[in-house]
Amino acid sequence: MQQLAPNNLDLDSSSWSISEESFLALVAVIQAKLGIPQTLIEFGSGNSSIRLALEFPQTQIRSIESDPVSLESTALLAQSLLPGQNLSLQHRPLRFQAYGPTEILSYAQDRSWESLQIDCVIIDGPPFYTLRGREACLYQLYNQLVVGGIVILDDYQRRDEQNMVRRWQAVYPDSFELEVIAKGHRLAVLRKVKAVSPHWQAQVLQEAIQTTQHRYQRLQFILQNYQPEKVLKPLLALEKLGISLASISRVLPTMRQTYTEANAAQSSSSLPRAARPLGLWGQGQAWWELLVLLFVKGILGF
Ligand SMILES: C[S@@+](CC[C@H](N)C(=O)[O-])C[C@H]1O[C@@H](n2cnc3c(N)ncnc32)[C@H](O)[C@@H]1O
Repeated sequence: MQQLAPNNLDLDSSSWSISEESFLALVAVIQAKLGIPQTLIEFGSGNSSIRLALEFPQTQIRSIESDPVSLESTALLAQSLLPGQNLSLQHRPLRFQAYGPTEILSYAQDRSWESLQIDCVIIDGPPFYTLRGREACLYQLYNQLVVGGIVILDDYQRRDEQNMVRRWQAVYPDSFELEVIAKGHRLAVLRKVKAVSPHWQAQVLQEAIQTTQHRYQRLQFILQNYQPEKVLKPLLALEKLGISLASISRVLPTMRQTYTEANAAQSSSSLPRAARPLGLWGQGQAWWELLVLLFVKGILGF
C-alpha cells in the first residue's frame, strides 16, 4: 500500500482520498448543520483524518482504519502535524459479521461504543471490494447517532453507494432526511430526524442479501483461483486499447489478503466459504471473470 507523503495533506494526490472539493463541502455542511460537533466518527482514515482534526480542534474525532500500514502513516502524520489530542486512530480489521438477517464484510464491531453519543459520522471506508462494508457502518452505530446528528457518505456518484442509501432508508423508514451535495465524488448527507426500530424485512434489503452472497462467492472464487500470469496478458492487451486497469490490478493482492484473513478469523458462518466453480464459470475461466470484474470496477472509477 502507498505510504502517505509526510507533511502533504493534499486530498487530491490520491484517488483514494475524499478530494479537496468534497472535503470543503463536507466541512461546510457540518458547520451549517451542527456548528461544532462534539463526537465525530470517521470510517476510513487518511489525510482527511488530520484535516478534520485541524478543522474541528474542539471535536473528539475517532477514525477507524482496517489497514495497519495506512493507520501507521496517518498516526505519524498526526504526531508531527497535530497540535492537539483530539484525533484518536483505531485499528479494526475487516470481518464478516451479522447485521440483521445477514453477514457483511466490514470493520469489526466495537461494543465499547455502546455508551457513545455521536453527532457526526463520515463514511469513506471500507473499500469497495467489501461490497456492503460501508452500509454496515451505519448499522453499527445507528443507536448511538443522536437525533439531529448527520451521516455523510462519500462517493455518492457510485451506484453501489446510491443503493446503500436506499437500503438505509428502507431499514430505518422516515428516520433520515437526505441531501445530496454534487461536489467532488458527491456526498450523501443524511440527517437523523427520528429514531426508529430497524425494519430488516424490507424487500430492497432481501434482494441485496441474495445478490451480495452471490457476489461474495464469486469474488472469493476469483481471488482464490486467479493466476496473475494469466491475467497479465489480457490486462496488457486492454491497456494497448487504452483501457487502463493498473489501479485495480494493484489492489488485488490487498483484496485477496482481506478475504483470506476474514475467512480465517471466522469460526462459524452461513457464508459459503469453499471456493468452487459457479454457473458457467469453470476454474479455467477464472482469469476471464476477473477481467470482467476489473473492467466493471474500472468503469465505475475505483
Ligand atoms: C477512501 S479510503 C479513505 C481515505 C480517507 N478518508 C481520506 O480521504 O484521506 C478508504 C480505505 O481504503 C484503503 N486504502 C487507501 N489507499 C489505498 C490504496 N492505495 N490501495 C488499497 N487500499 C487503500 C484504506 O484502508 C482506507 O481506509
